[in-house]
Amino acid sequence: MTMAGKGILAMDESNATCGSRLEGVGVENIEENRRRYRELLITTPDLGEHIGGAILFEETLYQSCADGTSFVDALNAQGIYPGIKVDKGLRPLANTSESWCQGLDDLADRSAAYYEQGARFCKWRSVVSIPDGPPRTAVTGLARYAAIVQNAGLVPIVEPEILLDGEHGIDETFEVASWVWAETFKYLADNNVSFERMLLKPSMVGPGADCPTRNTAEEVADYTLRMLNSRVPPATAGIMFLSGGLSELDSTLYLNAMNQSPNPWHVSFSYARALQNTVLKTWAGDDAKKDEAQAILARRARENGQAQLGKFVAGDVSDSESESTYQKNYVY
Ligand code: 13P
Repeated sequence: MTMAGKGILAMDESNATCGSRLEGVGVENIEENRRRYRELLITTPDLGEHIGGAILFEETLYQSCADGTSFVDALNAQGIYPGIKVDKGLRPLANTSESWCQGLDDLADRSAAYYEQGARFCKWRSVVSIPDGPPRTAVTGLARYAAIVQNAGLVPIVEPEILLDGEHGIDETFEVASWVWAETFKYLADNNVSFERMLLKPSMVGPGADCPTRNTAEEVADYTLRMLNSRVPPATAGIMFLSGGLSELDSTLYLNAMNQSPNPWHVSFSYARALQNTVLKTWAGDDAKKDEAQAILARRARENGQAQLGKFVAGDVSDSESESTYQKNYVY
């Protein structure tokens, strides 16, 4: 996953989120349609050239292709590590406007079962909303999760997503992100988590979605790298960004800008929306469009692989690829 020119395909949307995306293109949210769509993604020819890992939802980890090949075997055949989302979603935290992430109680047992099924890495996503003020529980849960899953042999992705929601400018995002990552690493160290065997999934440091001032790719890259350099130990294996509602094009341009000079870590992508948005719209449940949709996914993976090397050059871009996928109060 941290080889040059490679990143991660996030395809771990919960049934509710996957369902709303499917319904958005006129496809009914039933298990068979979720399976068909995910089969299209993972059987994309040569996907493994630029995708080193795929994060799956629990249901998907146990599914198979129409020809009976398990999804785990199909991914391994492409040289892609199967991963699994292990958090059990967000719940309101009493007496605050914050949320907390469920799933720690039985995590050791579940991790052992996921490893047995073929998963080799995993993800836990907590969220931070800048307008809601400093988070209290987001980072403590992340550290306990990372410690538990490392003991089960899984590589944790540590993801405190700072949502795009808000009118704040890039400087305020920088302050909050610096605080979040300082706290995250304090708790990771307190829990004896091995930095060499984990990946981070940060949001890029940019302005809030409703901020009137927009920043260039170079500015976003500069703020993001300054924040990471001051907070993230070089031993950390990889920084795999989420796309967070940025357009497909911006996600690639921002990553490319961050890789114009060497970084202490592998700086790459773990995008869901920025890899899948146009793919899903193109397929829209019609298997006659499968090849076209897969070609788009292969191209988006290749372009982000180029951005990981700092060598992306934008060509013709469709409207869909340049439109933001931002949704307020985004739930995964
Ligand atoms: P995007 O923000 O890239 O859609 O993905 C979010 C995520 O956490 C996927 O694992």
